[in-house]
Parts: sequence; structure tokens; C-alpha cells
Amino acid sequence: MSIFKDDILAGRVALITGGGSGINFGIARALVAHGAKVALVSRTQEKLDKAAAELSPDGSQARGFAADVRDADALQAAIDQTVAAFGGIDILVNGAAGNFLAPAAQLSTNAFKSVMDIDTRGTFNAARLCFPHLCKSEHAVILNISATQAFMPTPLQAHPGAAKAAIDKLTEDLGLEWGPLGIRVVGIAPGGVEGTEGMKRLLPPGMEDKMKKALPLGRFTTTDEIGQVAVFLVSDAACYVTGATLVVDGASAMPLSGVFWGMMRGM
Ligand code: COA
Repeated sequence: MSIFKDDILAGRVALITGGGSGINFGIARALVAHGAKVALVSRTQEKLDKAAAELSPDGSQARGFAADVRDADALQAAIDQTVAAFGGIDILVNGAAGNFLAPAAQLSTNAFKSVMDIDTRGTFNAARLCFPHLCKSEHAVILNISATQAFMPTPLQAHPGAAKAAIDKLTEDLGLEWGPLGIRVVGIAPGGVEGTEGMKRLLPPGMEDKMKKALPLGRFTTTDEIGQVAVFLVSDAACYVTGATLVVDGASAMPLSGVFWGMMRGM
């Protein structure tokens, strides 16, 4: 159930990197439910075809175009396919990301580079290559998916922390540079999102209930809730919001929130 009118994004086209699963698929689902057409872009065509068919069985509102965001030529081809299929690009969602738990001392330089390349360079690549199309749109917006690791020091997360902090900086700088051209640049920094690949990779086994007890709202968020925030940010309701990242984490990254709520709930 959405509180927004179901046609508020009608006539708009969104390209969503990492759109085949998790948070980004939740955003794709929300945008389609509000009238947008979406192009899902990630590495595996088969996965994208399945995800697109779930959103739009006849392909009229969702298509999948395989590309690795680290490969500018492949990304350009996916952008060209999107424009050929749907006529332009109004919304870019930069969601493609890579992550795993690793102590910084045991992280190879290539492992660090892989995450920086997917998250940060991938975000820049997609923004830069979509730029000519966004310039032609009257509702142009880039939504960058960040994470609370960007501003909250997090054990075993130096690599995504650095990558997401750089993405937040791009949100500010591109918002500033591209504002006069009519392109808004915004971000969402979600906390833990139930049922996603990220949660599987980052939550130590057996810790889920304990973690929830330490959260101020006593639960993680959902892909549907992040989808609703995305609909707001890419819609005209947020037309004066740019250069800003909205933290959607139920206050879990507030200093000492975990310690306080953990004690209150008898952990
Ligand atoms: N701990 C430490 N190092 C790891 C690792 C782990 N769990 N997983 C991968 N690496 C290292 C590899 O050993 C390699 O470094 P090396 O060449 O020095 O050995 C480097 O990272 C790249 O790994 P590779 O598997 O070749 O890269 P890739 O480009 O195929 O994959 C990743 C990128 C590593 C980010 C992979 O986890 C991925 O594809 N993730 C996408 C999905 C995802 O993470 N979703 C959650 C988002 S929150």
C-alpha cells in the first residue's frame, strides 16, 4: 500500500543499477507501481529478465539490460538500449554495490579496489554517461544509494564505508554542479534492510534477534519502505531537495543508540 497517487511518476523512465534484487529491486517495484518505466541494469541477464518479468510480464514497463557498472562501454550500451526501448532517461538510481565483512588488515588492495570500483566509480560512470539524457528531461534526478557506514565508523567495513562516503560527496558536488541544468542529485542511506543480500553478507549468523533489540525501532526496515522514500525523492514533491542524502535507518546510527536500547531491552 502506498500513500502516493499511483500515477505520480507516469511518463518517466528510470535506469536502476543493481536493480535485479534487494533494495534496488524494491525501488524498481515502487517506481513501476507509480507509473514509471524501469530499465534494470546489473551483471547477469538471466537474473534481470526474471526480475523485469515479475514487474511487467509483457515488458512494457520493465526491461533488463546487462552491464557491469565498472565497464563504461557496457554501461553505455545498456543506456543506449534503455533509450531505444523507452525513449529517454529521467531518473537514474545508482544502486549497484559490492560488500563483505573483512578486517582492514586482511583486505587485499584488489579487494578494496573492487568495492570502490563497483560503488563509487560505478556511480560516477552511470551519472556521467546518463548526463546527456538527463539534460533533456524536465524531471531529471539521480538517486544514489548510500549506507550508514559512510558516516558511522563500522568494524570490518572500511571498504564500503570509504566507498559510500565518496558517493555522498558526489551527491553534494553533482547536486551543486548540475542544479543549474535542472538535474537534482539526492541520496538515501538506509540502515539494515530485511531480506536482502547485504543483510545476508553482513549480519553474523544467529545475531538477528539481538541486533533488532539494539535498534531504537526494534526492527530492520524493508525494501517496500525504502521504495516509498525513493518515490518521494524522485517525485516533484521533492523538487527543492538536491545535494542531500536522507538517512533512513530508524535512528540506528545515532551515537550510542545500540548500547542504550540494548541495555533497556535486557541484552
Ligand atoms: N573477504 C576478503 N576479500 C574478499 C572477499 C571477502 N569476503 N570477497 C572477495 N574478496 C577479494 C578477492 O579475494 C579479490 O581480491 P584478490 O584479487 O586480492 O584475491 C577481490 O576481493 C575481488 O574479488 P572478485 O570476486 O574477483 O571480485 P568481483 O568483482 O567478482 O566481486 C565483490 C566483487 C568482491 C564485491 C563481490 O562480493 C560481489 O560481486 N558482490 C556483489 C553483491 C553484493 O555484495 N551485494 C551486497 C551489497 S550490500
